[in-house]
Amino acid sequence: MQEYPTTQPLTDRAPLAEQPGVYSESALWYGRRVFVKTLVADDPDSLARFQHEGRVAASLRHPLVASLLALTPTQLIFEFIEGGTLRERLECGPLGEAEATEVAAGVLNAVEYLHSAGVTHHDLKPENVMLLGGQPGWQSVRVIDFGMSHSRSLPLDIHSGTRMGTPHFMAPEQFLGVRGDPRSDLYSVGVLLFDCLAGHPPYEDALGWLAGIRERREALPGPEPLHPLIRSALSRDRSERPLSAARMAADLRAARQALGLPDLPLPRPDNLDASA
Ligand SMILES: Nc1ncnc2c1ncn2[C@@H]1O[C@H](COP(=O)(O)OP(=O)(O)O)[C@@H](O)[C@H]1O
Ligand SMILES: [Mg+2]
Repeated sequence: MQEYPTTQPLTDRAPLAEQPGVYSESALWYGRRVFVKTLVADDPDSLARFQHEGRVAASLRHPLVASLLALTPTQLIFEFIEGGTLRERLECGPLGEAEATEVAAGVLNAVEYLHSAGVTHHDLKPENVMLLGGQPGWQSVRVIDFGMSHSRSLPLDIHSGTRMGTPHFMAPEQFLGVRGDPRSDLYSVGVLLFDCLAGHPPYEDALGWLAGIRERREALPGPEPLHPLIRSALSRDRSERPLSAARMAADLRAARQALGLPDLPLPRPDNLDASA
């Protein structure tokens, strides 16, 4: 990994940051197009959060997770993923059951890897899933944005409420400040699958549901064989959710089979081809 790279901004760039104090842009770096996050705030909290994101991203290597190419104390340089986010794709309308379950299977495969590496993402949502080439298939999935993540190997919890997740995709326990529970990510994948199938998330008043003062959920979308899986992932009580990403992936595979959809040749955690 290069120590102190310099990037050359592209002229057609647009600032894309959701995170305060960070400027995101596409740029040229050694002649290749990259995606760069630059820290522009100078307070110690922003610096600690930014460096945490860099450390987590640098520790990961999986074909369905965006690759960090280089980092400096104030810049994170990622491979540029052409094709837009899953959110942009959903703005054109919901996905059919084959595509929605493929995308969810790709995301779950990446999540299974993250959890095995001791990382919980904590901000899984269509804005943080990119689709390479714009294709809603499992191979196109690239999970991005470790700005909210928790890592078992980085014991310092620097995320003390300065940046909240998105209410629609946030598990109730996360809303209450619990960190590092892999089942919070499974909740978010459940909402993501719901959103892919329905074109909108399950609760109109997500904050009311998180706070426990609203119970009304939209009817489950998609065909019936997917409903037990979605219902269980969306449980308020963590113990009623799938036990692990691997378990949820197996349930999704079984539901696809019941729907007559082909099995997907997803990478196995013990057989990762990081060059894919
Ligand atoms: N590697 C990438 N290639 C291309 N676009 C990206 C890449 N990473 C992020 N983006 C775009 O930039 C947006 C913001 O990046 P993200 O990492 O999610 O930061 P934020 O903390 O601002 O949400 C994403 O929603 C996506 O549109
Ligand atoms: Mg994001």
